[in-house]
This record gives sequence, structure tokens and C-alpha cells, in this order.
Amino acid sequence: MPICYHENTRTFHLYNGDVSYLMQVLSNGQMGQLYFGKKLRDREDFSYLVRTEERAMNSYTSEDRKKRLSLQQVRQEYPSYGTSDFRSPAFEIQWEDGSRVSDFCYASHVIFKGKRKLEGLPAVYVEEDGEADTLEITLADRREGARLILSYTIFRDYGVLARSVRIVAGERGCRLERVMSLNLDLPDSDFVSVQLSGAWARERYVRERRLEEGLQGVYSMRGASSSEHNPFLALRRPDAGEGSGEVYAVSLIYSGNHLELADVDQNHVTRLLAGIHPDTFSWKLEPGEAFQSPEAVLVYTDRGLNGMSGIFHGLYRTRLRRGFWRDRACPIIINNWETTGCDFTEEKILELADTAKSLGVEMLVLDDGWFGDRENDRTGLGDWYVTNFQKLPHGIAGLAEKVKERGLRFGLWFEPEMVNKDSRLFREHPDWILQVEGRFASPGRNQHVLDFSRQEVVDYIYDAMEKVLGSADISYIKWDMNRYITECGSAAYPADRQGELFHRYILGVYSLYERLNARFPEILFESCSSGGSRFDPGLLYYAGQTWTSDNTDAVERVRIQYGTSYVYPLCSMGAHVSDVPNQQSGRITSMATRSNVAHFGVFGYQMNLTAVTDSEKEEIRRQIAWEKEHRELIRCGRFYRLRDPFRENTGAWLVVSEDRREALVGYYQIYREVNTGWDFLKLEGLDPDRLYSVNGGVQVSYGDELMNLGILLDQERFGIAKEDYASVILHIKAV
Ligand code: GLA
Repeated sequence: MPICYHENTRTFHLYNGDVSYLMQVLSNGQMGQLYFGKKLRDREDFSYLVRTEERAMNSYTSEDRKKRLSLQQVRQEYPSYGTSDFRSPAFEIQWEDGSRVSDFCYASHVIFKGKRKLEGLPAVYVEEDGEADTLEITLADRREGARLILSYTIFRDYGVLARSVRIVAGERGCRLERVMSLNLDLPDSDFVSVQLSGAWARERYVRERRLEEGLQGVYSMRGASSSEHNPFLALRRPDAGEGSGEVYAVSLIYSGNHLELADVDQNHVTRLLAGIHPDTFSWKLEPGEAFQSPEAVLVYTDRGLNGMSGIFHGLYRTRLRRGFWRDRACPIIINNWETTGCDFTEEKILELADTAKSLGVEMLVLDDGWFGDRENDRTGLGDWYVTNFQKLPHGIAGLAEKVKERGLRFGLWFEPEMVNKDSRLFREHPDWILQVEGRFASPGRNQHVLDFSRQEVVDYIYDAMEKVLGSADISYIKWDMNRYITECGSAAYPADRQGELFHRYILGVYSLYERLNARFPEILFESCSSGGSRFDPGLLYYAGQTWTSDNTDAVERVRIQYGTSYVYPLCSMGAHVSDVPNQQSGRITSMATRSNVAHFGVFGYQMNLTAVTDSEKEEIRRQIAWEKEHRELIRCGRFYRLRDPFRENTGAWLVVSEDRREALVGYYQIYREVNTGWDFLKLEGLDPDRLYSVNGGVQVSYGDELMNLGILLDQERFGIAKEDYASVILHIKAV
């Protein structure tokens, strides 16, 4: 995947087998964007793509008519506001004299094999230098000498560019008011934008709208990436569907406040921006100091939305997630939360462990309620040690030991970033929460957010967690975060640095994760934020899986997991079978449907296994045995969405093994329909010339037939129950 620099035309061409990315140094020295899309043959000169004609109401970069151009009309690489471009800028710097006009021009570049780490921030990585090439272009501001380093990594095997920006102050300091990770100027606006939006318990619903002139996008100013808008935005051609058509997409590897914006101008140029949300950001740079932006991953494909997801899944599963558990299946979990809440005893937990073990479960996770005076959500957060020995007479170490004796691994819940006012920690350190002096600090779920911008706060929590984890045999941590940030102020920072806090907070969270990952490399971390309110690529770098949603209702989960799969691989989505009526929706679905949905994720249980009937136990045993047999395929296979549950009465998806010899189809019907017509479900990703059997011989067909004609979904043939919320998993196997 070469990166070429053509000296004569000052053109950069980054390409691999799938995509090309072209830039050129413009006549004023700034960087112009020429092309991003399907791969082009390399050539020296693409400068016809820089438009220089004069138009009314434009201003120009030079008095010399031959050299001049209007930045308003030029597609740019990393544009600013304040000269001849009036669109949303990629960055904004306030200089010492109060002005905000910049002029960053090409100074130098380096090209090297592999990819550098981002300091203190999560990012995609390579294992061998041959997997990617990186280009770093340094731009310098003519007046201030400040530098902007634009970084581009192109991967050999994926149609992606990983981009980030580093800003280094000159001899005078400055203030960064906006630093987006990425800008892309596309030449037209014939797009439908696709976003993953929602709320608690209905995270990452797929939402679409036609682009028009003006601003459209998604954002979070909640201190977390949020369930309201995932840090992701795709632009698809109106005729692009799941299987074909052009899609551009950006995914931001970040867990804090973010903005993804499409700004369509008067000539229908679409400017796509992604980065830290500028409204909650202001960062002071002393002379010579640097600021590193988060990384954004930019995808292009002409293979539709499934093509886009395939790229994200491959990259994020293997080159974003890390560590011991990256290439291993998560043990099958029983979590006690929906069964006991905070109201448990060691005895109750061990009873659950015994039953779980007898059914084939592999790990018991003790959720909220084990620490401090935690009887309900008003007390105890922050006190990460056992004080209630009536509940846990042998402490965490004793319980972990007993669970281990029963042949199960043991996992534990923490909410490290939070504190209840009714806790020892808060009584000792009332100034350790984010708050603004003289203003009310708004509680959320009766708790406050610890000031993770302060090193001593992060150190304290690290020590407390290290003590528990070091003293007991713990295999897994569920790291929760149950409220958003309000009154974001810190007692530790001066007035002119308060605008840095949202970002410093997330850097503190990342640093705590990094230290715990390093100290306990074999602990599996699952992140959670009232379910999926912080399901983002940033956290997947530290915690390879995320609790997808507190909503475990099977019907709702089809939608939530379907939307989540736009970006995130199945091995990152926690999915449990829970009791009915469902705690969130009140809906009753069959045990079969609950597990048929949960199998397409990181499978587990969140139900009272001690209260189920013998026949239900048999069913659970079968589900667990099935999961163990198929989990490698589900974890590593290629995933395709087949039917959209947001638009239809059914949802369906498919995962195909790498060698294409085996596949599993999940098919979910919401309302039972009677006396229906023909219904063919067309599969994807199979070998057209191979013969496959479906469900042990119910149908035997070649791959081309299963993909081009589809499987005739006759309800009787495949044993689909005569009821609402029925479902089936079809097992496709080469014969
Ligand atoms: C959040 C999580 C739940 C559970 C509770 C415990 O809501 O999403 O899974 O851990 O907290 O308080």
C-alpha cells in the first residue's frame, strides 16, 4: 500500500487495493484535498481537480490573479475559518493578540512503515510494520511558527485511513478552541447520512436523512460518547444498500464529547468533520507544548453498508481491541444483577453459582452492591472494599475462592469514576468531584462524578482497585459509568484551563484503564454505562467488550444489536438471556428467542437460574452446549445484516466462517403473520459453487442458490413457532 509523493506537482497519493486518497500542496502553500474513493491508477498530476475560476462574492489568497484561488471553492485538507473560506473549520486557534486567523502551509513530510502509538489515547495499531504505511505532513503557521502535524495511516488489508492531528505551539503560546481529528471535502452532496442514535435502553437505532445545504450531524456534550449519538457518521449514496453502493463513513476513537458533522455548501460540496466537540473544549498551549487529537477512522467502500461494517469489524476486532482476551472467547457469564440487585448474601450467590455450574456456565459475575454501605444506589460508591460482612462474611477474596472451587471463574462490578455523597470517600474528599464553586452540583442516580482530570484522584482509585484485584482471583471486571457529567469544573485547575476538563477527564479514564490493563493483563474488562451509553471504539481499546444495553428484551435487542453492528463486531457486544416478563419492557418472549438473539453477541445469562423449571434447565443446558460449539464462528466469522427490523416485521442476520464452509443465520419475526406469501431470505458471503445443507438436510443447495434465490422461509419447514416473537437459527454447513 504505497504512499507516493510526486515532487513536481507536490501531490500525495495514498492507496491500497481498495481505496485512493489524493492531496496536493496548493498555490498558497496550504493543503488541498483532491480525492477519496475507489482506487485510482497512480499519476503524477491531478491538479485539474483544484478549481481556480473566479466567482462573485469570493475573496482570494493572492493579489496576483494568476496564482490566486479562493479557499471557499477549493477542497481542503485541514481548513481554517477567517480568510476566504466561510464553512465550518477543522480547527480554530486563538493567538496571543486575540486574533483567530491562521495560515498553516506545507513545511515537510515523512513517510514510514507501520504506525506510531498515540500518547495517552486509544488508536488502531499494527502488529507488523508491513501492515500499514504512515504519512505525516507538517504544516507551519507563517506568522506564529506553530506546527500542525497531519497523520495518515493506510492499511494494507482494509479500505481505511486512520487520521489524527497534533498541534505544537510556536515560541508564543496559544489557545486551541477547536481541533477536529479529520476533515474531508467531498465534491457533491448526493448522500443520505446514516447515524446511530437513541437513548438509554434503545441505543444505536439506525437513523437516516437526505443531506441538504447546511449543517447536519450528531454530537455529545454529556461527557461520554453517549447512547444519544454514537461517535459515527456514514454518508451513503441514495442507491446504496446493504450489499452494494458507495459509502463513506467516519468512526471516532474517543469516549468523551464529540461532534460528527456534514456541512453542505452552496455548491453542494460536503465537508465531513469529526472530532472533540468544540463547544465544550478550550485548551491552552504554552510555548512549544503539543496537543494530540483523538484518532478518526475513515472508510470508503462501494460494497454497501455490509461492506462498511465488514471493514470496521475486521479492523476493530483485531487491530483496536488488545490483550490476552482479544483472540479468545469470553467465558459464558451468569450475572446476578437482574436477579438480586444489591440485595444478596454470599449464600444466595453461591447457590446461583452451583446451579449455573451444573448448566455449563463458566463465570459468575457479582454486580453492584458488594462494597461499602451499598444497600441501594444512594450510598457507598467510592468505597471499594467490603464493610458489610453479614452480606459477604469472607470478603471478596473468600467468595472468589468459593466460586473457583465450584469450577467457575469470578468477575466483579466496579463504577470507578463515581462517588455517592453518602460514602467515606466523599466525606474525606468533598472537593474530589467535578463541580463549580458557588454553584449547585446536580446529582444523577444519586451520585457525582469524580474529578478524573486530577492525578491524585485517579491514583487513589487505582490503588483501591489494585488492592481488591490483587487480593482475589478475579478474571473479569464490569466497569460501569451511570451518569453523565454536569457542572464540569475542577478545584485543581486555574480559570484559564477549565475548558480542558472534559478532555482531561477522559484522558484520566484512559490512564486508569491502561494501568489496570498493564498490571492485570489477564483480566477481561467489559465496559458499561447504564448499558450502552459509552459503547465506542475508544473504550474497546482497553475493554474488549461492552454491555450493549440494559434492555435485554429479545425483540428490542434485535434492533439494538442490529444498529450496533454497523460499526462494532459481535465479539464486542455483551448479550444475555434474561428473565421474563422482561424488566425493562414487560414483554414475554420464549427462552428460545431470547437465546437466539443473545447468541449473536458475547453470550451469557442475567436470570435467576435457581428458580427455573427442570425443563427450562434442560433448554439452558442445550443453549450453552450450542454456544460452546459455535462461539468461535460467531466471534471470528464475517457478519452480514440481511433484514432490517427498523423497516420490517422481521430481522435477520448471518455470520459466515472465514473458510465459508459454515454459516449461522438468525431470523426473528416480530408479529406472527398468517397466510403469508412467498418469503425468500437471500444469504450473503457463501461460496457460490459449494453445496450446503441447511439445518441438517431440511434443504440442500449450492451457495449461489442460497444467495441469489434465497431460502424459502416456510414456517413449518424450519419449525418457526406459531406465535409472536418467534425466531430460528439456521445452520448452514458445507456437505
Ligand atoms: C447499570 C448497569 C447494570 C447494572 C447496574 C448496577 O445500570 O447497566 O447492568 O450493573 O448499573 O447498578
